[in-house]
Amino acid sequence: MSVARLGYLGFKASDPDAWNSFANNTLGMMSAAKGKDSDRYRIDSRAWRLAVHQGEQDDIGYAGFEVADAAAFSETAERLRQMGCDVMDESDDLKADRGVIGLVSTIDPSGVRIEIYYGGTELYELPFVSPVGVSSFMTGDQGLGHFVLATPYLEQSMKFYVEGLGMELSDIIDWDLGPGGKHKLHFFNCNRRHHTLALLPVPALPPKLLHHFMLEVGSLDDVGRANDRMERDSRIMITFGRHTNDHMCSFYGVTPSGFAVEVGYAPRDVDRTWSVVRYDSISMWGHKFIPPE
Ligand SMILES: [Fe+2]
Repeated sequence: MSVARLGYLGFKASDPDAWNSFANNTLGMMSAAKGKDSDRYRIDSRAWRLAVHQGEQDDIGYAGFEVADAAAFSETAERLRQMGCDVMDESDDLKADRGVIGLVSTIDPSGVRIEIYYGGTELYELPFVSPVGVSSFMTGDQGLGHFVLATPYLEQSMKFYVEGLGMELSDIIDWDLGPGGKHKLHFFNCNRRHHTLALLPVPALPPKLLHHFMLEVGSLDDVGRANDRMERDSRIMITFGRHTNDHMCSFYGVTPSGFAVEVGYAPRDVDRTWSVVRYDSISMWGHKFIPPE
């Protein structure tokens, strides 16, 4: 049994105020009630999807994977324990802070805190309204979106995410970075979203594990307007383009923490007929790198 979806992300950021402006005014998220030691943002009916904690790392702090119910929760925790992972039963305080019914945590092979939970908080009584008019963020059964980690521990990470969390390999892209060599990007699904996680193998543990996270928006106009806002603020990192594997039409902007955010629309789903394939290019067209100023 697989985890069902990515439920939330927590970042450690050196400038939470910059994030507050970026999340609201650039990405179009909505400020939510604060966590115990975090600013929080909504993109849908859930009480929160992104938490920003003060921290010098400017990197991912944790990822929360949602499972359907108590049975799936116990089964996943047990499977991780049998693999030799140190799985912590989290306190009532932390469960209350995350707004969940059941919560355990463990550490992935690269050192990323992974939380497994069920019973997140829905907030239909307080509708999500984007401050900059994003029509919607596509979440639901596909969850928050996806994130990409750079890691020197590909084999161990695959074991953790595939055997431990129950994810499946979608495909592999040999990403040619020219003088930087080729990177075998591995993409993993846990629902019909083409990938909820991707792993970017690198020779040594990098200063930042998080390469980017992705938010899917409800229309092409939402992507275009987000692109305009990032261009206005000189934040474009990779131009508008379409990926070969998930067919997402997207662009990438730099966040206040230095890692990127991808804003995308119109991906294709994985289904029961899906077979693992490989690609030589990350994009059909577009996605040109803009060197930092
Ligand atoms: Fe992406």
